[in-house]
Amino acid sequence: MIERVTEIQKQAEAEIAAASSSAALEELRVQYLGRKAELPQLLRDVAQLPPEQRGEAGRTANQARQTLEVMIETAAARFEADELSAALADDNVDITLPGSPAESCGHHHLLTATRREIEDVFCGLGYSVVEGPEVETVHYNFDALNHDPAHPARARSDTFYIEGGGEGSEQTLLRTHTSPMQIRIMEQTPPPIALIVPGRVFRRDSDATHTPQFHQIEGLLVDEGVTLADLKGTLLAFARAIFGADRELRLRPHFFPFTEPSVEVDVSCFMCEKGATSGGERCSLCKGTGWLEVLGSGMVDPNVFAAVSEHGYDPDTHQGFAFGLGIERIAMLKHGVPDLRFFYENDLRFLRQFG
Ligand code: DAH
Repeated sequence: MIERVTEIQKQAEAEIAAASSSAALEELRVQYLGRKAELPQLLRDVAQLPPEQRGEAGRTANQARQTLEVMIETAAARFEADELSAALADDNVDITLPGSPAESCGHHHLLTATRREIEDVFCGLGYSVVEGPEVETVHYNFDALNHDPAHPARARSDTFYIEGGGEGSEQTLLRTHTSPMQIRIMEQTPPPIALIVPGRVFRRDSDATHTPQFHQIEGLLVDEGVTLADLKGTLLAFARAIFGADRELRLRPHFFPFTEPSVEVDVSCFMCEKGATSGGERCSLCKGTGWLEVLGSGMVDPNVFAAVSEHGYDPDTHQGFAFGLGIERIAMLKHGVPDLRFFYENDLRFLRQFG
């Protein structure tokens, strides 16, 4: 019997060592140690042996069983760990992968995309983005911004006044520009400040280059020791980020009630060289001038600081610059959009070109 036990043990050990999965080991366990297997049967048969043989035979068979049990357990533990990691790796779902097939989720409207592009540029320069009310008062829209009582923009033919909406400087209207936020912000925040104000504005106008509603971005920076050179450097950074790294700026004297001096800002045309195309023709984008008018700007007028002097703004200590640009205008120039009305017709053939 002892010989048979030793034989079984050798064979089982070899098979266990060669097993390649926990399932294979389980089969071997049944085969060698299961109720109907030969080794347990031999163990049971020990009782029938002559008494002098029982001791050694019993010990040998018992040891063989224990050895095989331990071998199977050890090997199974190793396989289970490996198989678990393999199963986990296999089941791994990468939730960052797009669905299959990938869902098209559309894209931003060109005006939204342009607005965000401009916001990114100024955020990069340390500006904050704030928004303001579309229904304003005469005070914020005109008076506090140093508009003469006879300024033409105040005319009923130019501005949407709200019927029954107060009187005098409290009369409400649809804001004609984002500039009123200059005053509201300075009332709420002491200097230094640097922010931009994107938003909708309204004027009584309608043709290929004017719509009753359009979008502007106002900019305002106030600190001590701010000069026109700071304004030019800031706007140059903006122009280069939006229209290309080779752009130059030109400032032309202008008039706005709330800035002094005021300038209109031109960016060198990105479609041509000094007004002429590479084929020597007159550039149609800049009309041969080599320059594109992009925005109005200037140094904050001391009269504007005087309107917020109670809030820590002193015309003798503080300087600032402001600028205002039309988002539609920037998008039209940059993408060659010929008619402002395309932005609002929502014709997908137009919109999809800017995905
Ligand atoms: N508010 C002006 C407009 O709508 C644009 C503008 C010009 C804003 C000059 C400014 C500025 O802040 O400094 O025509």
